[in-house]
Amino acid sequence: MESAHYNKVARILHWTMAVLIVGNLIGGLLNDIAPRMIMPGHFMGGLLILTLAVIRLLWRLTHRPPAWPAHFATWEKVSAGAVHWAFYVMMILVPLSGWLMVSSSDRTISIYGLFNLPKLPVEQSEAFGQLMSERHELLAYATIALLVFHIAAALRHQYVKKDGIMARMWA
Ligand code: HEM
Ligand code: HEM
Repeated sequence: MESAHYNKVARILHWTMAVLIVGNLIGGLLNDIAPRMIMPGHFMGGLLILTLAVIRLLWRLTHRPPAWPAHFATWEKVSAGAVHWAFYVMMILVPLSGWLMVSSSDRTISIYGLFNLPKLPVEQSEAFGQLMSERHELLAYATIALLVFHIAAALRHQYVKKDGIMARMWA
């Protein structure tokens, strides 16, 4: 019989990445306040998120998640599934667009004087950098919208439906 819980690997990845992603969303939005302090952390956090996202995606594609609870309506299964997969897309595209953005400039980016940020081999052009900056911002805002929806759903299950969905990812 299939367990009704996400297993340990899925739970550790979920909550570690949730903290890192929320941290990077806040860091990105606050970057104007103290760019020299925030940005190197934003870059490294972002590259860590991208690495973990690839591992998590491979894990998810090779391991079955717990079955949907029997009481789930079709619209709940479809919307939860759609949000979860959209998150996977964002976990890859948001950091990738950021990395492409900074790679398109010929500036060397030092990470707190410890080492330089590795660059992707892309054309060095301002127009490309600008395009990636716009995409990065748009996708980051889309991630926030998904997150609002995802948290609202989790709270609805926890406090309105009281059907133990939170425990699938928590316990
Ligand atoms: C940026 C932050 C977050 C991301 C990217 C994210 C992403 C995901 C994804 C992709 C899944 C599907 C399972 C998997 O493939 O691992 C999931 C499940 C879940 N998440 Fe999140 N999540 C985030 C934050 C949160 C927060 C803050 C909460 C709680 C308030 C939460 C509660 C849950 C719950 C309860 C499930 C299990 C749903 C089920 O039973 O199918 N998540 N999340
Ligand atoms: C999941 C990881 C990431 C998240 C959630 C994220 C989120 C954000 C957000 C919300 C902003 C502010 C957008 C605005 O309002 O202008 C931002 C800006 C920025 N991010 Fe990220 N970011 C991530 C990864 C990265 C990576 C890996 C890099 C580069 C290696 C990067 C480079 C930048 C830069 C240079 C800015 C400055 C503003 C701009 O020109 O868009 N980000 N990020």
